[in-house]
Amino acid sequence: MKRALLSTALVVASFPSLGNAVELLHWWTSNGEREALAELAIALKQQGIVLKSSPVHGGGGDTAMTVLQARAIAGNPPEMALIEGPGIQSWATLGFVSDLHSVAIEQNWDERLPDIATNINTYKSHFVAAPVNIHRVNWLWANRAVFDEHNLTPPANWDEFFAVAQVFKSQGIPALAIGNEPWQLAILFEVLTLGLYGSDYYRDLLIEFDDALVMNNKTVELFKTFRRLKPYMTDPSVSASWDNATLNMVKGKAAMQLQGDWVKGELSYMSLKPKQDYYCLPAPGTANSFIYNVDSFVLFRLRTEASENMANQLANTLVSSDFQSRFNQKKGSIPILKDVDMTPFDICAKASKQAFVHAEVNNTLLPSMSDSMAVAPQLQEAMLELINHYFNDDTFTEEEAISQLMKIAASVHFNR
Ligand code: GAL
Repeated sequence: MKRALLSTALVVASFPSLGNAVELLHWWTSNGEREALAELAIALKQQGIVLKSSPVHGGGGDTAMTVLQARAIAGNPPEMALIEGPGIQSWATLGFVSDLHSVAIEQNWDERLPDIATNINTYKSHFVAAPVNIHRVNWLWANRAVFDEHNLTPPANWDEFFAVAQVFKSQGIPALAIGNEPWQLAILFEVLTLGLYGSDYYRDLLIEFDDALVMNNKTVELFKTFRRLKPYMTDPSVSASWDNATLNMVKGKAAMQLQGDWVKGELSYMSLKPKQDYYCLPAPGTANSFIYNVDSFVLFRLRTEASENMANQLANTLVSSDFQSRFNQKKGSIPILKDVDMTPFDICAKASKQAFVHAEVNNTLLPSMSDSMAVAPQLQEAMLELINHYFNDDTFTEEEAISQLMKIAASVHFNR
């Protein structure tokens, strides 16, 4: 982020007046995501606030972040934006976002939110963002009818995955619905990393970039196994957003999808039921771990008392039990507030909540690298580039991938 340019923009910018409309910049464009966002519009409308939605297409939000930076530099940021992970620290460091300390104290956020929420959303121990959910990334979604028809059981580990995938292939059915996008491929790569070698390895390779591990034979095997998945996927030359991939799974054009539980938002939107129409299961080999992603909202500082009041009012709504219950039932995630009653949620959400608590206790709670939770945005971008290159260029060897990973690791250690 062009620090000098941004801080100049902060000083000279003339921010638009508030009135009772609040613009939200985000990347929630799928059916389930729009349904969930509608819950926010309803909650704000009840307070006389109109939500102006400014969606930017692109799962994972990379393009949205580029647009947000450009608008901030131009001195025209929205009132509110969807942001995730370490990126929040960068915006706070530059003084762009509202300090939510007073509402956080008043609403006892420290007690009511899990530690990961405090770590991600505070800057100098003040909340600067309002978290609304916890997404689990390491999910396997399986089309029940396709499995029943072939008398197969969804895989619990990667050996079973390849065995099942081979049977489906012999029947002309791709085992895995996926879109050939760097973000989708990176999610698959991190889920595979965890499923093959466990949470310590995941942490040491994808967060710490431990040199010894980078050059370890396990990492060579990881890349080889990743490429071995290719013949069992939907056609990589046909571009598919993650929600189109979900549709392919639902229509039986593929048997499974490995993706975060934003997928469940789509399945609920299509009125499909867990167990009856689809299975929601931990990704192969990851039952005891939880790769998380948290959606947070930042409120841009508009330097007026009215805007500070509005920021607190919005934050108060976002981090409220009632809103988080309604929103998350549509979104596919679970509330990040610990005290929300899970009774109205479906069996997948209840399983996610249980898995989260288990992982928190057993130290197998892991930030998503590919979904902006674990490393700085530039580093995440370098990893997505590497994974995408390796997947799409069969002449690119494991050794070349490892040497590129070593360069990334060197830059990590240099910057720490
Ligand atoms: C993630 C976001 C989720 C979901 C997903 C697909 O980055 O946290 O809420 O929207 O992208 O777009």
